[in-house]
Amino acid sequence: MKFFLDTADLNEIEEAASWGALAGVTTNPTLYSRVGGKLEDFHDHIKRICDIVGPDCPVSAESVAMNRDELVRDGRQLAAIAPNVVVKIPTMIDGLAATRALADEGIRVNMTLCFTVPQAMLAARAGARYISPFIGRFDDISEDGIEQVANIVDAVSNYDFTADTVGGEQIEVIAASIRSANHVTQCALMGADIATVPFGVLKKMVSHPLTDRGIESFLNDWEKVK
Ligand code: E4P
Repeated sequence: MKFFLDTADLNEIEEAASWGALAGVTTNPTLYSRVGGKLEDFHDHIKRICDIVGPDCPVSAESVAMNRDELVRDGRQLAAIAPNVVVKIPTMIDGLAATRALADEGIRVNMTLCFTVPQAMLAARAGARYISPFIGRFDDISEDGIEQVANIVDAVSNYDFTADTVGGEQIEVIAASIRSANHVTQCALMGADIATVPFGVLKKMVSHPLTDRGIESFLNDWEKVK
């Protein structure tokens, strides 16, 4: 399982990248507005994220266009920022059409706001390199987000979509809208390829009270050795 950071905050990305376990970054319009981002700086901001994480880490940048042609135009511009930019497109008819066009040009797409198995199957056939089903937003409407995402992970693994993706790359499911370390546990058990997590959750994933207590007692006992 790989970990992406779900943020547009450069400090968080720098910090998480320094921990050595970061494999990518996902952003969205809400996350960008949360860090005070402005439209005219968006491409520069994505470039800065790409520079921080390096060329091997995919960075998802979302288009807010609503029709195929504008999505494709936007997608080309976003992909031109850096080779590791992945164009994030919502699951909708024009989004599927744009994904097919971009994939045919060798541009990777992360199909986002995916909630059902049929949506995921269509995204995969349209050439999406990544599919992002959301957990927390299902929980928010009193449905079992983990179960829904597990269904998508299962369904995607039933088929070989490599003929559809850019360069025949293996499609990967990004478990998104993660709200807790327990969500990450469930994602690992279901076999999700990637979990994209907010920085707060990433920090919680590292720690456990028994780990803290163990470190403290080792340090105390080491004092006795001195
Ligand atoms: C993923 O790519 C999305 O940006 C993100 O996980 C959405 O999470 P939220 O439901 O907490 O906004």
